[in-house]
Amino acid sequence: MKTISKSLSDTQKIAEDFIKKISNEAQDSALVIGLYGDLGSGKTTFTQAIAKLFNINEDVTSPTFVIEKIYPINYKNFEKLIHIDAYRLDSAKELFTLDWERTLSDSKNIIFIEWPERVLEVLPKNHTKIFFKFLSENEREIEI
Ligand SMILES: Nc1ncnc2c1ncn2[C@@H]1O[C@H](COP(=O)(O)OP(=O)(O)O)[C@@H](O)[C@H]1O
Ligand SMILES: [Mg+2]
Repeated sequence: MKTISKSLSDTQKIAEDFIKKISNEAQDSALVIGLYGDLGSGKTTFTQAIAKLFNINEDVTSPTFVIEKIYPINYKNFEKLIHIDAYRLDSAKELFTLDWERTLSDSKNIIFIEWPERVLEVLPKNHTKIFFKFLSENEREIEI
């Protein structure tokens, strides 16, 4: 479904709706959410909105330079929020230096990944996808 966000609080609300709908049921591996969209389309902002809902107080900046950030959470069956920015990764293999297999296999992980198209071959094929589009200065289309 496509929604138009006209403000940061709209984006906050969309993030809230999204997170409420994620499954309550135990899964057999991590929940992976690919955040697709150009630079400035709102991928990091959306992740920050999710972090706010989890009461993560730490600054959730784009992990462009560190690639991956991990935050402890306590929501449904999840215990860790993992935020990855694959923008600077040259190949999917680089994710394995971050213990990717273990991260993926742990059903207590919820993983938000910016620029998933760069590492598609190591993501579960059926991962959840959210598409972001820049419309104008304060407007973003968010397709979930
Ligand atoms: N409606 C909106 N929803 C999300 N971000 C918005 C909106 N309007 C303006 N912005 C701004 O757009 C920018 C989006 O940047 P960011 O989330 O870092 O994008 P990306 O991670 O996709 O590169 C932020 O500066 C944010 O404040
Ligand atoms: Mg970003």
